[in-house]
Amino acid sequence: ITAAATSMALALSATAGFAACDDGEIVVKFAHVTNTDKHPKGIAASLLQQRVNDEMNGVMCMEVFPNSTLYNDDQVLEAMLQGDVQMAAPSLSKFEQFTKVFRIFDLPFMFKDIAAVDAFQNSETGQAMKESMTRRGLLGLAFWHNGMKQMSANKPLLLPSDANGLKFRVQNSDVLKAQMAALGGSPQPMAFSEVYGALQTGVVDGQENTWSNIYGQKFFEVQDGITETNHGIIDYMVVTSTDWWDSLDGAVRDQLATIVTEVTEARNAESFKVNEEAKAAIIAAGGEVRQLTAEQRAAWVEAMKPVWAEFEGDVGADNIAVAQSFNA
Ligand code: LMR
Repeated sequence: ITAAATSMALALSATAGFAACDDGEIVVKFAHVTNTDKHPKGIAASLLQQRVNDEMNGVMCMEVFPNSTLYNDDQVLEAMLQGDVQMAAPSLSKFEQFTKVFRIFDLPFMFKDIAAVDAFQNSETGQAMKESMTRRGLLGLAFWHNGMKQMSANKPLLLPSDANGLKFRVQNSDVLKAQMAALGGSPQPMAFSEVYGALQTGVVDGQENTWSNIYGQKFFEVQDGITETNHGIIDYMVVTSTDWWDSLDGAVRDQLATIVTEVTEARNAESFKVNEEAKAAIIAAGGEVRQLTAEQRAAWVEAMKPVWAEFEGDVGADNIAVAQSFNA
């Protein structure tokens, strides 16, 4: 079986259970990179597909392409601007080419938990971010949660000095590159779909991600262990093209927007639980999960915190203050 055939089979199974789009229906392709099962984004995208296809049957038809089967995150936004895909939900770290305001979400230890992220996103500052890229042709419809990031490597990571000299895969974000450099590590930007292979073959030594991604991509199988650092977040923006959005009939657009909002509220409320279940599944599968003492954790905070100053100009000291107010 060729890789193309495998992709095709995965893409087809993703839409299985839903009738093919009928003539005259507006086709909405939604491309993402994670698995569909036991993953906050995968579950949310599948629910969105189901609701659109049930409630807008005859008018609109959504096809979800998970697992990077259609595009990876580096390609999807350009494809959207070309009109080849209508919706996606890349992590906030992947908008680097379009806006710098999202850099606040990548700053290490900026948010103490996803509830703080949620509160910030729902503030005036956060809501304005959905429209920060309209000049570039992209419109944010909603923020979707994943969860807190953990660190893993091919050796135990208990102190920041353990990361010294290691190669870490990062999403293609300047903040994340600076964060790994602050640890004395070497950041290696890479598409999500390539990480497992890179860890397995030793192209990189470690990575950072949420429990659901570490579980879904089986990173724990090719790492020494995972340290529960909760040092950052992975969250998403559901994004569409302004051209496509504006082309929709007003009533159709409103109905789709309402479904997106309802799916967002329902699934964001479950994202913490989905990640906790993934963590438990990693442990059950024999993955090693390490906890930090308060002192060890303080050392990670101290090592990474200088990154804030580097990006304060892009992010805005006022926005940092707003974000921090939700950690209280
Ligand atoms: C990553 O590239 O590690 C994540 O952004 C993948 C994802 O969509 O959660």
